[in-house]
Amino acid sequence: MAEYDESRLTVVDHPLVRHKLGILRDKQTGTKQFRELVTELAIFEGYEAMRDFPLEDVEVETPLEKTTCKRIAGKKVAIIPILRAGLGMVDGILTLVPSARVGHVGMYRDPKTHVPHQYYCKFPPDVENRICLVVDPMLATGGSLTAAVQFLRDAGVKDIRCLTIVSCPEGVKAVLDYDPDVRLYTCSVDRCLNESAYILPGLGDAGDRIYGTK
Ligand code: PRP
Ligand code: URA
Repeated sequence: MAEYDESRLTVVDHPLVRHKLGILRDKQTGTKQFRELVTELAIFEGYEAMRDFPLEDVEVETPLEKTTCKRIAGKKVAIIPILRAGLGMVDGILTLVPSARVGHVGMYRDPKTHVPHQYYCKFPPDVENRICLVVDPMLATGGSLTAAVQFLRDAGVKDIRCLTIVSCPEGVKAVLDYDPDVRLYTCSVDRCLNESAYILPGLGDAGDRIYGTK
């Protein structure tokens, strides 16, 4: 059994998340609904991943009197989708943080070796001063996500939070062991990988299901 630092793993298992995830897994679920569910699940995950954002006081005048309210203080956010499938989660996070910048890491897994190949990488110019939310629906071997984390560390990013929808123990361990500070949010840690490095029970190929390419 994979062992990892559970203090840096949050499983977002709200009943609404579990309900939507069940529909997402169903092979009968079509492209349109699949895409909508990925967006909705990204909102739930983003909500959890930003739970510790610091607040500061702000004076507000209601129609009746002055009062002290809160607003989010300090660091700004960058969303970093891993192409292609990660793009499906961007709109959900932007719903929560419309001012976030978006960087992109393009990677695909070699179907035989399962090693990720990078074909694109572009971050916002001030990425090192932002909290980076790396989004990708699937965490399988962890090769793609650890590579993305390394690109961000190389760019000087200090606060990295990874958001996946379906993970497996092997991938969770790979990511948490690779980087001692990264935090991981997922809706499910599934059973295992199969011989083709697909997650069981999983939901199949997330990119193909989001874009209808199979
Ligand atoms: C999928 C998925 C992850 C990666 C996970 O992408 O979206 O990026 O595989 O696997 P890993 O943890 O073993 O690296 P894929 O390579 O199929 O590319 P796509 O998003 O373009 O379909
Ligand atoms: N990538 C996917 O899209 N699905 C898996 O199960 C594994 C990798």
